[in-house]
Amino acid sequence: MSIDRPEIRSFQPPVRTLMGPGPSDVPPRVLSALARPTVGHLDPAFVGMMDELKTLLRYAFQTRNELTFPVSGPGSLGMETCFVNLVTPGDKVIVCVNGVFGGRMAENVRRLGGVAVIVEDAWGAPVDPAKVEAAFAVNPDAALLAFVHAETSTGALSDAAALAAIARRHGALTIMDCVTSLGGVPVLLDEWGIDAAYSGSQKCLSCTPGLSPVSFSEAAVARIKGRQGACPSWFQDLGLVLGYWSGAKRTYHHTAPVNPLYGLHESLVILAKEGLEAAWARHRDNHLRLRAGLEALGIRFVVSEEARLPQLNSVWVPEGVDEAAARARLLQEFGLEIGAGLGALAGKVWRIGLMGHSSRPANVALCLSALETVIKG
Ligand SMILES: Cc1ncc(COP(=O)(O)O)c(C=O)c1O
Repeated sequence: MSIDRPEIRSFQPPVRTLMGPGPSDVPPRVLSALARPTVGHLDPAFVGMMDELKTLLRYAFQTRNELTFPVSGPGSLGMETCFVNLVTPGDKVIVCVNGVFGGRMAENVRRLGGVAVIVEDAWGAPVDPAKVEAAFAVNPDAALLAFVHAETSTGALSDAAALAAIARRHGALTIMDCVTSLGGVPVLLDEWGIDAAYSGSQKCLSCTPGLSPVSFSEAAVARIKGRQGACPSWFQDLGLVLGYWSGAKRTYHHTAPVNPLYGLHESLVILAKEGLEAAWARHRDNHLRLRAGLEALGIRFVVSEEARLPQLNSVWVPEGVDEAAARARLLQEFGLEIGAGLGALAGKVWRIGLMGHSSRPANVALCLSALETVIKG
């Protein structure tokens, strides 16, 4: 059999400015790190880089958790790694749902034979701690609380410290999705007492997509070690993966994505050099610049000011504007990607990302002038 498409050549992607819900713009330093020579995944030089990567991730997560490493797969695999290791059949898990990604957590619990107790909040609102407290009052046997720190589908930030404190008072462990929050707003695993967290490489860390940093507290590790029955996923069984990611002698588990891990290492070196506080301040400042410009255009935010994510700005599409046509023009005429609404907000909102390397004054200026052109013209 031959390939019947003589036009196929090396793929040359168009140059875009990425201001959607992720991936974000990848800085040249990370792109060049990706192009460095591939070495074996058990090469001593590579193992040394893996150890640095764990140290850098502990800084990003603000944790001393020994069990902190990047899962070889996207944020969704980091999510499944947390649930598949911590949830056993019959476990009751309180799951907060205020957008698309909380819904996925609930689905994970159900597929693992757990009982998902749903605490629902409106799309665009943060998780209400009072509702979580009430759910624990009715379900004192709940073993886990799961919530999304930064709901990318709506742009709402929830109070992770308050939610983790409630779980702790009721003797439950916490699973937190910080895919969109890590590097953009404070994520303080140890101070807040989060037991399991997963993130993604392609948002505020500005690496390429496909890696998911995770971290587990000692209490989470104790629960995993004490679980009845084997973890139902061989690939994600932390007991097995750790033979590769820790210990004096590393053993083969799977062939790690060598070059993408160079990229993540570089993006975390960039973050450490800038400093977390400076990165959070930059995200806030560029959000304020964008907000001023959007308000001048008469565009309104979906999320109330106190719960607004600086790195993911959900705004109502102005009346009379064709949502999809405007986005298509931004892409074709300005090379600018912004995001559409998801689920209940589809067709009604735009999601403008200012994540990681995309959070720059030049991007804000481009977005505002391009939006003005397509809205008015
Ligand atoms: C909050 C949140 N959780 C999970 C995911 C899933 O990550 P991925 O698409 O890398 O699998 C995303 C992706 O956008 C997200 O925004």
